[in-house]
Amino acid sequence: MYGASDPAAAERTAFRRAEKQYKRYKPAKLKGRSRSRSKPAGVEGGGGDLSAVVDFHALLAAYGELPAGICRSDCAGFDRPVFCFLDRPGFYFIPGALSTEEQCYWIRESLKTFPQPPNRTNLTAIYGSISDLFIAAKNQKILVEVENSDVQEKEQNNGDGKMESRNFKFVEDLEIQKGEDCRSTRATTLMRKLRWSTLGLQFDWSKRNYDVSLPHKKIPDALASLAKNMAIPAMPFGEEFKPEAAIVNYYGPSDMLGGHVDDMEADWTKPIVSISLGCKCIFLLGGKTRDEVPTAMFLRSGDIVLMAGEARERFHGVPRIFTESNQQEISALVSQLSGEDDCFILDYIKNSRININIRQVY
Ligand code: OGA
Ligand code: MN
Repeated sequence: MYGASDPAAAERTAFRRAEKQYKRYKPAKLKGRSRSRSKPAGVEGGGGDLSAVVDFHALLAAYGELPAGICRSDCAGFDRPVFCFLDRPGFYFIPGALSTEEQCYWIRESLKTFPQPPNRTNLTAIYGSISDLFIAAKNQKILVEVENSDVQEKEQNNGDGKMESRNFKFVEDLEIQKGEDCRSTRATTLMRKLRWSTLGLQFDWSKRNYDVSLPHKKIPDALASLAKNMAIPAMPFGEEFKPEAAIVNYYGPSDMLGGHVDDMEADWTKPIVSISLGCKCIFLLGGKTRDEVPTAMFLRSGDIVLMAGEARERFHGVPRIFTESNQQEISALVSQLSGEDDCFILDYIKNSRININIRQVY
């Protein structure tokens, strides 16, 4: 799914060039000396140019004629604006699909609930199941490795018949003795290292496939019903989308998602329903090879993208997110998350983007 069979060749492609261009982009400095220097028209301070990035929110607000190649795809039984590209059938963009309240709800769920076992995360392979990471981070706890006898956790067979188990638990900062020889990591650091979690049928990244033998809970009903409703523009009339798995991506300031095709689901006519939360990002939608120049667009908190049919064969990725306060475009979220209970979430989301993408596997 992710990565190319020939990395050297991938480096030379149009997709890779676009990724590098947007990764390098630096916003114009609002203050300081650089302002006084004159720059050629169209070139933003610090290097880089976002003028080719499609901004569906601006198109929606302008009510005007749409640029060549972009059309509205509003459909019966779906009371929201939907945009699409004439030359990219199967791709749908629903700007502002979620209210601020809904965005906050799914951000909280993504941080508190979705990383909970039996759901797996990128941290599971290193630490085993970690319960209540969010609460531990909020309470400044520290994860330490402990002797086997200290906890009653499941043992893992390491393959050669010997049982090996490594156990970790959260402790208070004060409980760690100075000079004690144990691996320890702050829960807040682990929260920052959280890169993905999987809901429903568990995706095994090492095998690049769904592993139905892994324990799992079904996708939360509220998320399944949201995905069903939002999938309508990409579904044949009268057919219902069946959410079976979701991958939640967590992006920190310098994280990106390289160009890839999601090809592990059986039926590509069914859409992937992809929800954006938190900081704005650039999304690249390319062709069936990396040689085609991708179209860039902004994804903001609350936007939903659908990729079905032919669009499922297209390379796509996220080369950068915007964490600068003038560009992250999360002011509505910031005011909504002003309660004391939410200050940890607010701190997190000011520098992060979360993407929940929901799939029908069979
Ligand atoms: C993915 C994906 C896009 C995004 O997880 O497969 O393409 O918007 N995510 O983060
Ligand atoms: Mn994808």
